[in-house]
Amino acid sequence: MNYSSKTADLSSLKTACLVLGVFKGNKPGNQFDLLDTAGDGQLKRVLRKNDFSADSGCTQLLYEVSGIKADRILLLGLGSPKDLNSRNFASAVSKATSLLQSSNVTEAVFTLPETEDTYSLVREAVISAEEAVYRFDQCKSDVTPPKRPLRRIAFQATGRKLVNTVNKACSHGLAIANGNALAKDLSNLPGNICTPTYLADEAKKLGRGNRKLKVSILEEKDMQKLGMGSLLSVSRGSRQPAKLIVMEYKGGKAGSKPVALVGKGLTFDAGGISIKPAAAMDEMKYDMCGAASVFGTLSACAEMELPINVVGVVPSSENMPDGDANKPGDIVTSMSGLTIEILNTDAEGRLILCDALTYTERFEPAAVIDIATLTGACIVALGHHTSGLLANDDKLADEVLSAGEATGDRAWRLPMFDEYQTLLNSNFADIANIGGRSAGTITAACFLSRFTKSFNWAHLDVAGTAWKSGSDKGATGRPVPLLTQFLMKRCKVTDQ
Ligand code: BES
Ligand code: MN
Ligand code: ZN
Repeated sequence: MNYSSKTADLSSLKTACLVLGVFKGNKPGNQFDLLDTAGDGQLKRVLRKNDFSADSGCTQLLYEVSGIKADRILLLGLGSPKDLNSRNFASAVSKATSLLQSSNVTEAVFTLPETEDTYSLVREAVISAEEAVYRFDQCKSDVTPPKRPLRRIAFQATGRKLVNTVNKACSHGLAIANGNALAKDLSNLPGNICTPTYLADEAKKLGRGNRKLKVSILEEKDMQKLGMGSLLSVSRGSRQPAKLIVMEYKGGKAGSKPVALVGKGLTFDAGGISIKPAAAMDEMKYDMCGAASVFGTLSACAEMELPINVVGVVPSSENMPDGDANKPGDIVTSMSGLTIEILNTDAEGRLILCDALTYTERFEPAAVIDIATLTGACIVALGHHTSGLLANDDKLADEVLSAGEATGDRAWRLPMFDEYQTLLNSNFADIANIGGRSAGTITAACFLSRFTKSFNWAHLDVAGTAWKSGSDKGATGRPVPLLTQFLMKRCKVTDQ
């Protein structure tokens, strides 16, 4: 969709639908009063009927409103003025967008409530409007697209400064939403289509579209030379060759240290010889959502032309049971030299991530964030609203937390005290790949921490947040909003 600002005043504004935000209580808002006066009190008479509560996200479509040029007015509840923030505004906009999409309206203008933070309000509104119209139907044979789809949304803004703010927020919002949609598309694809090779080809495609994005793919023989015995032990049990995808976005000064994003790219995780139970195993196609978020974030960076250097590293493989697959008890040697006893072949994410993290050292990164659907234990601890965060640096952890807070894509930090490290002791190798029943998310992070000693590092466990199960099964695109916000803040493109 297209997003822009509109400067015409409300009563003379020509549009198929004017979406009028209305607060709860006695003061519905200045813009409401303005239109009400133009229409000789018609809007107030509607409110008095009490069909429309102004609760956040509730809607009421009005036709034939006098004194205005718009064909329709959509009253959109914004709840109580004291609860106004970008998250609440965005969720109301999402409801309105869905309604408009299913009506005959191809274009609409939204009023904006008065706030200090128009930028965030508009940016988050654009992201959730795109979210509301997102469909994944690449694999359906019979799709009827809406006859008259919604194509344009404008936000009413007066004054040069506000217009600039709204325009900037629109373009940032759309770039983030596009990155989000890319992450969702890749994630929603089934494992037989979205293989490591498919992801590598998608990365090359992304590279061809952006001058500042350099993409290179390491094949199994390259990884062999680097000594990535841990990563390769996982892909050995699969007919699909593993890929290590490296995407370098060079938007910053030459020589300025990059932020590295390392995404777990298991295009299907059957568990290997420690095979998973059958129920909901299809959802293990989503075990590459971390990787997808790296793609989405880099695409958003490139679209916004952020002045920062970012490198995306995606180890990608399948985890399958096979005659040549890892067996419990096997010992492999990682690129770092540490030997690993594989006590459970289903703890494979850390086995591919550890070599990717060691590889990342060569970029001398300013900070490294890995993103992984790493542990079922994280869902037990935090559920589906909050990602798990573990880090070896407090400042970096705080930066990640506040990026999550600013975008509603929240994370919560778990401890990584030294005491937990002993749970990874092995009788036969340097470390074991599992730590036992308790604190599964923490011991997984402890495992990774053995490979991140040379840089500031944060780990996001997105097992509970990257996709939804049940009747609205589908990828969420998280944590693309968190990661892009983190990078935008780092290069001072936003101060929110
Ligand atoms: N990809 C899974 C984690 C996962 C499971 C994410 C369910 C989302 C939903 C990961 O590879 C895995 O299997 N982890 C094991 C680790 C265990 C063997 C120590 C787990 O969480 O059970
Ligand atoms: Mn697994
Ligand atoms: Zn996995």
